[in-house]
Amino acid sequence: MRLLVIGGTSFVGRTIVSDALGRGHEVTTFNRGLTGKDIEGVEALRGDRSTDEGLQQLAGRAFDAVIDPGGLVPAHVLRTARALAESAPFYAFVSTTAVYQAWNTAGTDESAATWPGVADEDGDPADLARLGVRKRGCELAVEQNYGLDACLVARAGLIVGPHDNVGQLPWWLTRIAKGGRVLAPGDPARRLQLIDVRDVSTFVLDQVEARAGGIHNVVPDEPNTTMGRLLDDCVRATGSNAVPVWMDEGFLFSQGVQPWAELPLWLPDGPDTAGFWAVSGAGAKAAGLRTRPFGESVRDTWEWLRSGGEVQTTPGALPFGLSSEKEQQVLAAWDARPAA
Ligand SMILES: NC(=O)c1ccc[n+]([C@@H]2O[C@H](COP(=O)([O-])OP(=O)(O)OC[C@H]3O[C@@H](n4cnc5c(N)ncnc54)[C@H](OP(=O)(O)O)[C@@H]3O)[C@@H](O)[C@H]2O)c1
Repeated sequence: MRLLVIGGTSFVGRTIVSDALGRGHEVTTFNRGLTGKDIEGVEALRGDRSTDEGLQQLAGRAFDAVIDPGGLVPAHVLRTARALAESAPFYAFVSTTAVYQAWNTAGTDESAATWPGVADEDGDPADLARLGVRKRGCELAVEQNYGLDACLVARAGLIVGPHDNVGQLPWWLTRIAKGGRVLAPGDPARRLQLIDVRDVSTFVLDQVEARAGGIHNVVPDEPNTTMGRLLDDCVRATGSNAVPVWMDEGFLFSQGVQPWAELPLWLPDGPDTAGFWAVSGAGAKAAGLRTRPFGESVRDTWEWLRSGGEVQTTPGALPFGLSSEKEQQVLAAWDARPAA
């Protein structure tokens, strides 16, 4: 197939491009030339889809499908979808499960209420505070121009794997590789649901090749690891002597430790988050999604980091992680706490 990938140089797009080339497709990428490098073997077009003039390079070109892995601003996606609706008959958009409004129950499926996105909303891609609303606006921009039969909306859950451009798993791997006693949050049995970027890529390309339109939550059908297993996998992958020290959430709050931002992937228990790691992936599974064992994602992410890989976060993303000074203070406070 002749595939056009918008972007294609960072994480999800990069993986899709590399896999598409491996499948023998002709791949054209379209980006500004600011992030990463185009993968060898693509035809690289330069342009900026934040303006009408920026899409000129696409005029007069025809493709079998467009894949848009990184759209964050509805107006940019709308412009792209409008420009290509006549020249590329299928559009695959990588969205996010953040489009759903509520996380209070497990089993959120594709029919759950989404944020009210607006297809022509413009703005700064670095403004990530309204990610869910804006990604929904991007979905609508594609749906309005292609119709649901000719577009794939792949609502990915939290994505991990080589070339990660967010940084949660890389932070844990890097911390654990340093060894020693590691502050570990909450209940080690808390279940997590994480998807490998290569499984997202395989699913998207399979659907594109089959021209199978529809909306899918691209997540493992069941939570596929726990916080405890994740840290154990990190210890195994890095060969470290690290020993997790599990602390209850109340203690961590009393020490001013920030969930998620300081200890990545730690989302405290609560009624509003009960379904966060238990989204339904049944629809994608029925459509062919297969997910690898999570330990493989941890191992391969470490291999990537060890071979010089660096997390290149997107503009607007906040850095993750607890400082080692704060971690030592909290560990000391834990050791000094009065016996229960
Ligand atoms: N990580 C997660 O846990 C997670 C979870 C759910 C969903 N997602 C979604 O997955 C996607 C990840 O995308 P990615 O960053 O990995 O995609 P990518 O395609 O690998 O990288 C983003 C690309 O967009 C290009 N780009 C940015 N602004 C542009 C513009 N104005 N015109 C043309 N090209 C532009 C960048 O290149 P230039 O800068 O050179 O133009 C870059 O090549 C996002 O949509 C995210 O919402 C992520």
